[in-house]
Amino acid sequence: MQQHIFDDKAALAEHFGQLLRQMSQEKEKIYIALSGGSTPKAIFDHLAENYQKQLPWERLYFFWGDERCVAPDHADSNYGMTKTHLFDKVPVPADNIFRVKGEQEPTKAAEAYEIQIDRTLPQENNLPAFDLMLLGMGDDGHTASIFPHEMTLWDSPLLCEVATHPESGQKRVTLTGKVINNARHILFLVTGSNKAEKVQEIIKQSGQWRNYPAARTSADKTTWLLDKDAAALL
Ligand code: 6PG
Repeated sequence: MQQHIFDDKAALAEHFGQLLRQMSQEKEKIYIALSGGSTPKAIFDHLAENYQKQLPWERLYFFWGDERCVAPDHADSNYGMTKTHLFDKVPVPADNIFRVKGEQEPTKAAEAYEIQIDRTLPQENNLPAFDLMLLGMGDDGHTASIFPHEMTLWDSPLLCEVATHPESGQKRVTLTGKVINNARHILFLVTGSNKAEKVQEIIKQSGQWRNYPAARTSADKTTWLLDKDAAALL
């Protein structure tokens, strides 16, 4: 498991942009599962501002690692956030965007998303293989929408499951461990001092690390991109 520490979000975002550019020079089609929440906003803003022409948007295919079960124009929608901060500002074809239909009944949305992923992505190890799995981490150690109280979802035989937010009860569709760990590269984008304790426990395999879904990714494929605040205890 590697980690890179950056002075601030802008430096982290620039590194991510360069990484994406390098990947797109090595392969024709790049399949990316995006993370949601607030951390990616600054990264998407940076790409929108600085990578209009520096990325082959027509060869990038976007999915999400998880989505809230809300309409695409709802304030909580990860698709809606990405559209606002990125897709509305760069020339990515609409056909290259595969959102979870958050407005549908959650189980139906999860089933449809699983079929979409299975049909669209190349297969490796008889599983759909993302080139890049972007993940965030909650301050409780969750990732995608697999929370510590539903750790069993990580080991589901399915590619997608319906999860429940522990506080709000909000339903979410999430990728499971088998497809997350089948990605070629797993990249955590984590910033902020409120994440520092869990980052330390997971990377140093100390404290309650085994209870955190974010600790379950394949170490040999995982890189943490951290700002100084999130890395303060390393
Ligand atoms: C989501 C995310 C989730 C997120 C973490 C961190 O839908 O909320 O995919 O896994 O990455 O909760 O969220 P912040 O970036 O808002 O801290």
